[in-house]
Amino acid sequence: MKHIIRPIAAVLLFSVFILPATAQQENPVKNIGKVTTVNISDQKVNLTTDQNAFIEVTVYSPSVIRVRMDKKKLGDDFSYAVVGKPKQTKANIVQNNNEVVITTDSLVTRINKNPFAVAFLTKNGRVINKDEEGLTTSWIGEEVTTYKTMQEGERFIGLGEKTGGLDRRGSGYTNWNTDAYGYTTGQDPLYATIPFYIGIHSGLNYGIFFDNTYQSDFNFGASNNRFSSFGAQGGEMDYYFIYHTKLPDIITSYSDITGRMDLPPLWSLGYQQNRYSYYPETEVFRIAQTLREKKIPADGITLDIHYMDAYKLFTWNTDRFPNPMQMNKKLKDMGFKTTVIVDPGIKVEPGYGAYERGKKADIFLKYPDGEYYQGQVWPGWTHFPDFTSEAGREWWKDEIKFFANTGVDGFWNDMNEIATWGQKMPNNVLFQYDGHLTTHKEGRNVYGLEMARASYEGARKHMENKRPFLLTRAAYSGIQRYSAIWTGDNRSEDSHMLLGIRLLNSLGVSGIPFSAMDIGGFTGNPSIPLYARWIQLGAFTPYFRNHTGVNTKSSEPWAYGEEVTEIARNYISLRYKLMPYIYSNFYEATQTGHPLMRTLAIDYTHDPHVYNGEFDSQYQFGETFLIMPFESGKNYGKVYFPRGKWYDLYTGEVKPGNQEEIIGVAYNKLPIYVKESSIIPMQSLIQSTSEKPADTLTVHVYKGDVNNSFVYYEDDGETYDYTNGEYFKRTISYDPLRKTITFDKVEGNYNSNFKNIKVMLHGFDEMSRVKLNNRNQSLDKDFASFIEPITRFDPQGSANPKIGYNVQSIVVKNDKDRFTISY
Ligand code: GLC
Repeated sequence: MKHIIRPIAAVLLFSVFILPATAQQENPVKNIGKVTTVNISDQKVNLTTDQNAFIEVTVYSPSVIRVRMDKKKLGDDFSYAVVGKPKQTKANIVQNNNEVVITTDSLVTRINKNPFAVAFLTKNGRVINKDEEGLTTSWIGEEVTTYKTMQEGERFIGLGEKTGGLDRRGSGYTNWNTDAYGYTTGQDPLYATIPFYIGIHSGLNYGIFFDNTYQSDFNFGASNNRFSSFGAQGGEMDYYFIYHTKLPDIITSYSDITGRMDLPPLWSLGYQQNRYSYYPETEVFRIAQTLREKKIPADGITLDIHYMDAYKLFTWNTDRFPNPMQMNKKLKDMGFKTTVIVDPGIKVEPGYGAYERGKKADIFLKYPDGEYYQGQVWPGWTHFPDFTSEAGREWWKDEIKFFANTGVDGFWNDMNEIATWGQKMPNNVLFQYDGHLTTHKEGRNVYGLEMARASYEGARKHMENKRPFLLTRAAYSGIQRYSAIWTGDNRSEDSHMLLGIRLLNSLGVSGIPFSAMDIGGFTGNPSIPLYARWIQLGAFTPYFRNHTGVNTKSSEPWAYGEEVTEIARNYISLRYKLMPYIYSNFYEATQTGHPLMRTLAIDYTHDPHVYNGEFDSQYQFGETFLIMPFESGKNYGKVYFPRGKWYDLYTGEVKPGNQEEIIGVAYNKLPIYVKESSIIPMQSLIQSTSEKPADTLTVHVYKGDVNNSFVYYEDDGETYDYTNGEYFKRTISYDPLRKTITFDKVEGNYNSNFKNIKVMLHGFDEMSRVKLNNRNQSLDKDFASFIEPITRFDPQGSANPKIGYNVQSIVVKNDKDRFTISY
């Protein structure tokens, strides 16, 4: 018996003493709970729960709903990213025992009361996105996460600078700005935090912007098949839900919330030559001179850290650069603008000006006991200005004058993650966070944004009416208001070239139109074909900068032999000829937030092909060009043509859409196709944007079956006079049914650079005449070609490679009044 009684006693003991204790154990995951109070006002609902959570749901616009939650009273409504205010919106808000329902013109938001859970639906009741029942929103300690039901076939794109494929389904990501030297193609996190993504399923698409600067985590079905989620190590759950039927409108709404870019200076859209580092001054001039001699158009020279005295910021190494002002002036006369690198670390060295001034202004980051934080970077031990304080930014803005005074036009903000050797900045370093004192944990991810802001504001302050150019490595949402971004220290490998394209496409869909990667790769040396391919692609990226590391082979366009020089010249020249098209597209970005590099997911959102790993690096440059980025070694490759018709840029041959095709690939020709009905304004070849093009603007029109229009925009390209009406803007439209090409009346006071417009007709039937405003006009025979003959290098050895074809054209006066060409 004994052996039976013993276990029974044990069970009894267990149930008496252990079980009750187990039952009482608190759930370590604290759910948001059940709604206890509801307070409805015009465009807002405030709720509390039995778990002492506080919730605020605000209608920002008919298409944007903001949800804030905390397990204590909501804090001050403060954000570094958000500039948009709620718009006066008609919202119908009603409640019953079970739910609160908010209806706007665009969507229905249903707030379930027990437990608190949100669902977003279309007006006819289809679920766009909803909280995962049972999980909804919860806390583990300070970490807060919202869980969303994974929808059937749901895909996820965006999240800014994230590696991997276009479709992020099945992956998880962390945002923690990191100095990611020589990162791998799957590494995460990299340098920037853009906590905005777009979900796509069953013909619907929505955006979610999670505004929280702590380390944040996104799970798009990684290691789970139940939910997608987003959360952070601390702070509030604070997200904006955006719904539109068309994906590009989601980007526009996101940019209503976080802001849009200013018009960039025109020179920053030209080719930029860079390396770590060009010095002394004579070397800088040799590079500039060679670019001119070899007729490789260029606008910018960038100076990396060796221009400084012992890496001390706001100094020049006077042995290497004895007279920076004179040098910059001479460069300007040659058509070059100078960009300098600025790192945040200020060397700790008594007697060094910036250090002494920073100490005096007391603007460096501190430990809680008041001692300045020191981390090691290029100059050795340094202090870091606290850019999250007004005083820190003001101090920096004054320091920036040092460069503005010497004729510098661009500011390249680097190492602002913050990068320190050891890569482990202590969490007890304090950040002012503009009146909301916090630690490194919340401050880190906005440091780069606020540094770029201070540099931008400093440049604006000291450059009078001139537009500065800003580039940054670290960022947070909203960066587009101040600066372009580049993807840091990539590798000279084929996979990195393609990854770079996807990174820029992802940044574009995440509200950042102005972006770059190091063309040629930063670490290592590219092969000759890789370099050639990369520079071709570079011509079709927003900021076109060639850059390489300190111990690598020279990376100027002539460093890879005659043949590659020829190829580079061809594509850089093409970029310059396309400048009116590119600049107009930047204007578009300032109005809508739409990127120049458009992943096919933007316009072909629900076509599954575009997410296929074989095709997901393909993109559009503007809405016109379809770019097929291939690895360098390939002689042929598979591409996907989305719906519509596509013209081969070089031959005019038409490819039908909605189909995969294997095409031949030559390494001296980047496969580029033009969408039917496109309208492309181009100019004559210039060697830098400071040179005036010839006085005829060429507008290429491609026959198609769909209506199309293009907003042509021009101004002086360097000042803010456009804000006072000094611009020249008109819509050009093509109507295939009516058989018309119409140039609308010009808006703005600026006088165009172009006296004439030559319209080139691609794919149109041969005609002897057209009508200009009902008056007959005869057509000219013309030849359309976008690159120069490269016979010598044609790999097939063909005597006459096809890089052009016959078209018809007509020249008309660039009249400010509306005029129509009909055929
Ligand atoms: C960082 C930058 C790189 C730069 C180097 C030296 O690695 O990412 O572009 O050349 O620092 O300043």
